[in-house]
Amino acid sequence: MEKTIPEITLNDGLTMPVIGLGTYRLKGSEGVNSIISAIDIGYRLIDSAYNYENEGTVGEAVRRSSVPREELKITSKLPGRYQNYDKAVTTIQESLYRANLDYYDVYLIHWPNPNQDTYVEAWQALIDAKKWGLIRSIGVCNFLPEHIERLEKETGVKPSMNQIELHPFFNQATQRKWHQENNIVTESWSPLARANEVLQNDILQQIADQHQKSISQVILRWHYQLGAISIPKSSSPERQLENISIFDFSLNETEMSLISGLTRPEGRINNQDPATYEEF
Ligand SMILES: NC(=O)c1ccc[n+]([C@@H]2O[C@H](COP(=O)([O-])OP(=O)(O)OC[C@H]3O[C@@H](n4cnc5c(N)ncnc54)[C@H](OP(=O)(O)O)[C@@H]3O)[C@@H](O)[C@H]2O)c1
Repeated sequence: MEKTIPEITLNDGLTMPVIGLGTYRLKGSEGVNSIISAIDIGYRLIDSAYNYENEGTVGEAVRRSSVPREELKITSKLPGRYQNYDKAVTTIQESLYRANLDYYDVYLIHWPNPNQDTYVEAWQALIDAKKWGLIRSIGVCNFLPEHIERLEKETGVKPSMNQIELHPFFNQATQRKWHQENNIVTESWSPLARANEVLQNDILQQIADQHQKSISQVILRWHYQLGAISIPKSSSPERQLENISIFDFSLNETEMSLISGLTRPEGRINNQDPATYEEF
């Protein structure tokens, strides 16, 4: 029953599955069981964050699963309140202790918090932690092109990926094009728009019926064909399996355009514009 998920290669050579498991709100023993079930089904990428307070849950699932650690890709993220260089280094170490892991495959800066203006020193801490072997690949979340340009200009190091809000109601066409031109992989957070009314959309339902798939599967296939890694969160083994069963059909250009056409200027789930929003 285990499924194989295709992989893509980041600009630093690390390979990543094109779908992973989001873990926001997966905590404690129920969370451990959900993550073990996802790994049993075929998930090899698990997305966590210091601020989700579940790095321990993820680490426990990794140790209890039957899949060797080196076959998994584990991500965590640096919170805004610890962007100062010394605090960032300590936080990366604390992230590892919480998970009881020797290394993270991917570590991301969670938000740029531009008013705070400390994301470049946070980035230097990630660069150094990679040199020390604590992290294999470093990237960012919610960074606008201007923030990434500054990282590269001041440190010479470009992120391997940028994890951004991306779903049919917010298709991020401009940001995605910029990533593509700059060899940065797009990773989609809330790829199912947190199961909001997108899952009742008539256009998506028609496309889903055409392929005898669910709306969630059509949306996740759309992410894959856009070239983005998606990290849908599900606590249920049935929906986890549904969400990775998308490699036996494809969307044609018309269907891709119809889905991308659902985007709205105000389509963000919580109006979190990285130019002004700050998260600590
Ligand atoms: N970097 C950032 O700033 C940032 C921000 C937000 C999220 N994230 C990451 O991205 C991950 C995914 O985003 P998200 O959790 O916000 O939202 P999401 O993955 O778009 O949606 C999750 C919701 O969809 C439901 N669901 C999942 N599969 C389904 C299916 N096949 N049919 C119907 N409902 C389904 C889940 O319920 P059940 O669990 O009951 O299945 C859950 O309520 C997070 O978990 C987190 O790891 C990162």
